[in-house]
Amino acid sequence: MWHCGFSLTMTTARETVGWVVERIPKDESGLQFYLSHIRPFRLRMLQLAPEAYSSSFERESAFDDAAWLRRASKPNAWTFAAIQNVANGNRMVISSLILIGPSDKGSEFRDSSIAEKQRRLLMWEVNAVFTEPAFRRRGIGTAVLDAAARYALEEATALDADCVLMLGVMGGNAETGARAMYEKAGFVLVSEDELGLAFEKRLYGRSSVSDAAA
Ligand SMILES: CC(C)(COP(=O)(O)OP(=O)(O)OC[C@H]1O[C@@H](n2cnc3c(N)ncnc32)[C@H](O)[C@@H]1OP(=O)(O)O)[C@@H](O)C(=O)NCCC(=O)NCCS
Repeated sequence: MWHCGFSLTMTTARETVGWVVERIPKDESGLQFYLSHIRPFRLRMLQLAPEAYSSSFERESAFDDAAWLRRASKPNAWTFAAIQNVANGNRMVISSLILIGPSDKGSEFRDSSIAEKQRRLLMWEVNAVFTEPAFRRRGIGTAVLDAAARYALEEATALDADCVLMLGVMGGNAETGARAMYEKAGFVLVSEDELGLAFEKRLYGRSSVSDAAA
């Protein structure tokens, strides 16, 4: 049976529609789930929204199982997914993203506006954000993003660091719901050029939050 490495307790309203957010583990059952559920979800994402991603359906549909498993096993990349229970015990991925990191970006990312400015700031990148069209505008993409952010902050805090989440919106996708979702979730636009938009969100562990507020 598939064992989830991380799951969130959703609000009652969300539980009634039967979905949970999980971090897909890298054990045997998690890798199996990746092949059977995450792979087709990602290929569908690339087919339905090619303007939003730098990869393509044509490229990735040619990957063999070994290539997908290599991707699923990468130590610094985690797939977070909202998964709905459907008939016969089956599970359907309805939203997903990849969290990549951490990398230590050094002083350029340190926030001098907070008192504890010597605290390290670790960077995570968020990509491949997608919600099935039939499930949009229900807060599901935001819930997946929140789960990834919470995980990144927990990891950073364990390393006595704070964290910054970075994400990009491709130029052709700039005026879609993606930008609105990120801004509503607290991401701030940090740069913009012909390739697209770059957003970041800084997250501070408990001690830094109180320092920042002081
Ligand atoms: C962008 C995307 C992931 C949003 O997923 P979602 O599950 O619908 O997002 P949420 O329901 O959590 O939306 C949260 C908020 O974002 C904003 N938002 C989301 N989609 C929006 C849209 N199409 N138009 C305007 N605002 C939008 C709204 O403020 C929304 O809150 P509200 O519904 O209470 O008004 C989804 O539309 C998608 O997969 N788009 C195609 C692929 C894509 O662009 N991915 C992003 C790559 S950078």
